[in-house]
Amino acid sequence: MIKPATGRSVMLACDHGYFMGPTHRLENPRKTIEPLLPYADTLAVTRGVLRSSVDPKWDTPILLRVSGGASILKDDLSDEEITTSMKDAVRLNVSAVALSVFVGTQHEKQSLVNLSRLVDEGEEYGMPVMAITAVGKELEKRDAKYLALACRVSAEIGVQIVKTYYCENFSKVVNGTPVPLVVAGGPKLNTVDDVLNLVYNAIQDGAVGVDMGRNIWQNDHPVAMINAIRSIVHEDATVKEALQVFSDNMITEPKKVEPQIH
Ligand code: 5RP
Repeated sequence: MIKPATGRSVMLACDHGYFMGPTHRLENPRKTIEPLLPYADTLAVTRGVLRSSVDPKWDTPILLRVSGGASILKDDLSDEEITTSMKDAVRLNVSAVALSVFVGTQHEKQSLVNLSRLVDEGEEYGMPVMAITAVGKELEKRDAKYLALACRVSAEIGVQIVKTYYCENFSKVVNGTPVPLVVAGGPKLNTVDDVLNLVYNAIQDGAVGVDMGRNIWQNDHPVAMINAIRSIVHEDATVKEALQVFSDNMITEPKKVEPQIH
């Protein structure tokens, strides 16, 4: 999942349906995922989407979301359980499993105990675990103090990698988390420039990459966007250089890339 050549990763997050339903521009997961897969180092999905919408010929590593239990109709999104067994994750041949933790919410303990159980099972099967430091509807908690706490608590439980949000003083979050961190994008930002700045700053501060969804596939030029992000993550491009990659890819009609069988 993390490319040895650069020590970094561009993960494509397409697991939103597990609580958001048919999210804008992810209504038909196969249509959204297929053109982007050649440029993703990892694809993050649920088992339902993996089975129904991802051609098994693709050899992109899969990050399987295994937590759920609440939908956007509930005020409290933190009431999650493990929804997919470790055995099924192994059977589906995924590279890692992911679960949300809700530090500071009503179900903090439940989500942390879920994470501990998942790490224990992961150890038995040799399956890496990602903690997702969800902030749910409480977006005001997206600050370094809160995220550093949630990331560190997850690392102490034993996860191999953490996904969190970029925030001011993000290096504080990175420095306090002794495992690799990737950043989510969150809801679609206003401009391409804003997205590329977020990615650039996160990498500068020590993130090993992104696990990003809406800011890629809700853009009118998703292939151009993921390639621009790749240039920052894997080639240390500046925001200006990445914008050029975006423009170059925007005017090139994306070729249909067939899965490679290795
Ligand atoms: C959904 C998730 C997403 O994978 C995560 O939020 C990344 O996607 P985005 O960049 O759209 O925020 O965990 O629950």
